[in-house]
Amino acid sequence: MAAMDLSMTSPPTAYAKRRASLAGKISRPMVIFSGHALARSYATNMHVFRAESCYLYFGGPSLEHAALLIEPGSNGRDGCTWFRTPPGPDDPLWLGPTPSDATCAEAIGITVSQIKDYDALESATAAGNVSCITPPHPDTLAHACKLKLSKATDEESLAIIDLRLIKDDHELTAMRHAATAGVAGHLAAMRAAQVGNSETDIQAALIAELVRHNCRESFSPICTIRGEVLHGECAGRKLEKGSLILVDAGAEETGAYTSDMTRAYPAGGEWTPIQRHLYETVLRAEQAAIAACVPGKRYLEIHHLAAQTICEGLVEAGLLKGDPADLTARGAYGLFFPHGVGHLIGMGVHDLEDFGDLAGYAAGRMRPERFGDCFLRLDRDLEPGMVVTIEPGIYLVPSIWERDALVKPFTDAINRTAVDALLNDQFGGIRIEEDVAIRESSADGPEVLTAALPNDPDEVSRIIQSR
Ligand code: GLY
Ligand code: MN
Ligand code: MN
Repeated sequence: MAAMDLSMTSPPTAYAKRRASLAGKISRPMVIFSGHALARSYATNMHVFRAESCYLYFGGPSLEHAALLIEPGSNGRDGCTWFRTPPGPDDPLWLGPTPSDATCAEAIGITVSQIKDYDALESATAAGNVSCITPPHPDTLAHACKLKLSKATDEESLAIIDLRLIKDDHELTAMRHAATAGVAGHLAAMRAAQVGNSETDIQAALIAELVRHNCRESFSPICTIRGEVLHGECAGRKLEKGSLILVDAGAEETGAYTSDMTRAYPAGGEWTPIQRHLYETVLRAEQAAIAACVPGKRYLEIHHLAAQTICEGLVEAGLLKGDPADLTARGAYGLFFPHGVGHLIGMGVHDLEDFGDLAGYAAGRMRPERFGDCFLRLDRDLEPGMVVTIEPGIYLVPSIWERDALVKPFTDAINRTAVDALLNDQFGGIRIEEDVAIRESSADGPEVLTAALPNDPDEVSRIIQSR
């Protein structure tokens, strides 16, 4: 068991309201597990524990070997039980004091009598027909299996998804903090982007700021001059004059709310003409897509809006030939912009992705098959309170240009000599990513949570050069 820090994102009334909303939509009890920590090597050398997001959302304190039980029809207080593992006699010695049951009950919005030992979950669910939400940890899954709990049905999962899709003010406040921490990290990364430094210098500068803001990484930061490797890792490569660096990183605050932002810039801050042209193209795509983030807008359309802007810039750069609208309709952008324009963000960087496309895709919508669209993680109509990323990019990915099935349909539209020149130069990749909260009114436009991090190419150069 890890020492417990009872830092709750929301007041007890908010948790009770969420539980009551869920209880109004389910017809059998649901158990939501916090999960178990993972061992790094031997059993007492653990990774930092991160409780399961639904468990945190409904008010579970961040403690492993714990679970919430929510009965159908509960008012969010009665009919809710928190099962927890009390500290062992030696735990205070190694881990320090843990908050009392009274403190936890108050934070959750239940009474002390509604707190039970984790072992009592077995008798509480013995009557059967109980659903569960589990993190993908083998010990938790095995425990749910032993108790004969059934995986939540799609209908039960959707009852949770519908709630979590829309962020309340408490959640947005936490996300603004995660954004502030991420901005500080990225500014430090920019200042470390000097010729002669390495990718790891950038990563170290970035992570130090996240820690200073009492956050951790929301995923393994991508700090690389091989930005065309979409989820590539920092490998410690040296930055040379002309190296194009891509930094994709964000923060996760204590309540598990995250930020996720990307910038690309040249080492030392001096853009080459093609770097600058393609960067400005991505920036235009970013701005057009963000402006479209208003209630009622279909996310797939925003993806295609970004794609069309990218096709326009690729034609201007002489990499593609033809009418940008026609190239967009044919899907030619996939050769340079293979991933989706973004995803849900909230608790965890790809919010709700543990529910798969049930969360990301509205009822009746399927993931498209076409390359360039098939990695799109979200296709819902936007609603006030949703938070999404917008992250278009342009990449020169060697493995794409080796795949005839992807390239041949566009032989007429590709300037292969120009493409090969960039591939030979190991151009890399450019992505710009912001976190965008949808507001009530289209007239106000969205709130860009990450707006404090400059994305203007000259301003970014100034930050790098003002170190
Ligand atoms: N780094 C993962 C993402 O931006 O979605
Ligand atoms: Mn990202
Ligand atoms: Mn992202």
